[in-house]
Amino acid sequence: MIEFHDVRLSFGPQTIFEHANLMIGEGEFVYVIGETGIGKSTFLRLLYMDILPSYGRVRIGGYDSTAVSRGDIPFLRRTIGIVFQDFRLLDDRSVFENIAFALHVTNAKQKMINPKVTRVLSEVGLSAKADAMPGDLSGGEKQRVAIARALVNDPVILLADEATGNLDPNASREILAIFDRINKRGTAIIMATHDYSLISQRPGRVIKIQEKSFFDVVMQEQ
Ligand SMILES: Nc1ncnc2c1ncn2[C@@H]1O[C@H](COP(=O)(O)OP(=O)(O)O)[C@@H](O)[C@H]1O
Ligand SMILES: [Mg+2]
Repeated sequence: MIEFHDVRLSFGPQTIFEHANLMIGEGEFVYVIGETGIGKSTFLRLLYMDILPSYGRVRIGGYDSTAVSRGDIPFLRRTIGIVFQDFRLLDDRSVFENIAFALHVTNAKQKMINPKVTRVLSEVGLSAKADAMPGDLSGGEKQRVAIARALVNDPVILLADEATGNLDPNASREILAIFDRINKRGTAIIMATHDYSLISQRPGRVIKIQEKSFFDVVMQEQ
């Protein structure tokens, strides 16, 4: 479903990826680790084709970086949900409206908006907060709204860039539990984090970025 083939990505003189190869299958749960500045966010940007490789090929779903046109990219993005460290909610809109906004952007049918928003709010355990404003929520709740918004168009893949980076350990574990549930229903999860201690005890594939490429981390037996 996701394939990097001999990818190079440079920003000016700085090369982030070189001869980078990777395969991720449908429905996998993958953590991407590596020190700050190594290229985790850049990797995710390559996946949603915010940037294209300088050389080589990135394939995601039916899309291929060597053949994709600018007009294809919005359609690729509809199959991907994205969550960031800083939530990126609209502070002057309610929780409900923040999530509905993602449906308006994809021209969803008006009568589908209520049931879809209600469903994803329930999935993240925030049914009671539909009318709240983001400013009245805790960090963990804000991130759950962001996850609900990312899920509302039924993505095949959920990308999370340091999604627990602003949260305390309890709120972080809640977010990981939500990701587990989403993954069990078949959505692939790719979560970038610099916090190895958060995920070291968890099941799931761990990919480390180093030497400008990707390496599977083999977990120690407990
Ligand atoms: N748009 C950009 N232009 C130039 N350099 C960039 C850009 N985005 C990221 N970089 C550089 O690429 C490197 C990797 O960044 P990033 O992917 O954000 O790392 P990480 O997410 O692992 O902390 C860093 O050195 C960063 O400064
Ligand atoms: Mg980053």
